[in-house]
Amino acid sequence: NKLKVILLSNELQRELAKRRTFAIISHPDAGKTTITEKLLLLGGAIKLSGTVKAKKSKLYARSDWMEIEKKRGISVTSSVLKFSYHGFEVNLIDTPGHQDFSEDTYRTLTAVDSVLMLIDAASGVEEQTKKLFHVCRMQKTPVVAFVNKMDREGRDPYELMDDIEKELGIQCSPVTWPTGSGSRFMGVYHRWQKTMYTFDGANQPQKARISPDFQEDLELLDGAGVPFSREGFLKSEIAPVFFGSAITGFGVDLMLNSLLDIAPPPQPRKAIERVVSGDEETFSAFIFKIQANMDPAHRDRVGFMRICSGIFTRDMKVHVVRLNRDIRLGRPTKFVAKDRALIDRAYPGDIVGVHDPGLFAIGDTLTEGEKLHFQGIPVFAPEHFASLKLQDPLKNKQLLNGLEQLSEEGAIQMFHKAHGNRIDVGAVGILQFDVVKFRLEAEYGVAVEWQKMPYSVARWIIANEQSILDAFQQDQVESIFYDRFHQPVILMDSMWRLELFEKRYPNITFKATSETLSKKRRKRR
Ligand code: G4P
Repeated sequence: NKLKVILLSNELQRELAKRRTFAIISHPDAGKTTITEKLLLLGGAIKLSGTVKAKKSKLYARSDWMEIEKKRGISVTSSVLKFSYHGFEVNLIDTPGHQDFSEDTYRTLTAVDSVLMLIDAASGVEEQTKKLFHVCRMQKTPVVAFVNKMDREGRDPYELMDDIEKELGIQCSPVTWPTGSGSRFMGVYHRWQKTMYTFDGANQPQKARISPDFQEDLELLDGAGVPFSREGFLKSEIAPVFFGSAITGFGVDLMLNSLLDIAPPPQPRKAIERVVSGDEETFSAFIFKIQANMDPAHRDRVGFMRICSGIFTRDMKVHVVRLNRDIRLGRPTKFVAKDRALIDRAYPGDIVGVHDPGLFAIGDTLTEGEKLHFQGIPVFAPEHFASLKLQDPLKNKQLLNGLEQLSEEGAIQMFHKAHGNRIDVGAVGILQFDVVKFRLEAEYGVAVEWQKMPYSVARWIIANEQSILDAFQQDQVESIFYDRFHQPVILMDSMWRLELFEKRYPNITFKATSETLSKKRRKRR
């Protein structure tokens, strides 16, 4: 028995050391689909690249697979991709690429240990990148930057570094450095390897000598740039920066090699009770995403869990802490976009999809019995709000059903007023309303119309004393709504109004996120 424990512990250490779990963040069109495909190709998870051609011929990149995505040719949900590369086991969580993303995108970032940030060389830091980066910053997730589309005319690389530093408040430490862009893009110099890789658009990069002009440029960079420090990177203070062209694949492997080297292995995770380290032998995990009806042929629900400690085995019995109940996890699955494969064993850092018999809620902690509650899976304040109009009033029950389900998945949030039974919905991205309309019809047979409400900011309100909170709610009764857990939320038309309120009501705290994990709240359902 002792031998078995030692063997298991060795296995766990070994697997832990080679695992890397990351997500890609970017603004739409920066090339996330393209680079994801290149990463999967490098990892041998797919054999043929087809982004551009496939999109044009109305087939789709492998990570865009939901019905609505096919219809619109965009990624709406995040899928999980697993591949092996140079001895590493990589979990890449694909976040939605469209500008109108959902909370799901934000929440996905709570399940990773590092992030690849894609920047379009011509556009620099864009709106969505900023929002997503902000979430990484909140969690202190290390970020690697890849400046993409160097084969097109882009901005000056110094200017881009400046843009990243100013807009995101993170220091840049270029690892590769480009010479020229667009038709004059000659390649990149790898500053760590002291090697020049030339680009000719078609062939594999070649090592080459560098021109005297470029040599000068590099010396300038040595003098001006921030030296890389792994510690600074791990604290999310320094971003190593790479340049390349995802469409041709140039520079992608250079980036991936370094990312896997420097990115942290599965990190310890905070629970309310204690910090859980990956190498602990008992299994623990949390659910960060629930997806209903992934396969319309089987109306199933899949819970995505991120393993935090121990070894997961197929048919294992786990304890759902919130429900105080043991269940056997059925059909543990790893995903390569649309393809699923059953797995026998999984380790910390791995993302596994498990069959959800309608039990799980986002933020659930699974253990082998210990009462743990993992933290840090917040609900983010919606920025768009809509009222729904049911075409057939007799379908109210189905509507509620569907909305409950969609809010558990994190696609939308439901709000109601103190009186009356009208349900309004809020979302982080406006596209969600179309997704909801589409899915309510396709999956629940309910036809609705939605109408935008004149709000753009929501904040959960908290006060030290109930009387203060009550008085505020009386004052602002028109704009007070309640979320699914009966917590009061104020909806406002602008940030300007929020600032006004913050000044006028110093005893009220206006919160942009709400932790899902309060035990009291989670019991409702
Ligand atoms: P996204 O998932 O971040 O939204 O971006 P996606 O990969 O779909 O790329 C957006 C557009 O940018 C695509 O062109 C894609 O071909 C192009 N692209 C991506 N990487 C590079 C690159 O390194 N260099 C150049 N020149 N282009 C790149 P599109 O015309 O919008 O779509 P398509 O019709 O070509 O598929």
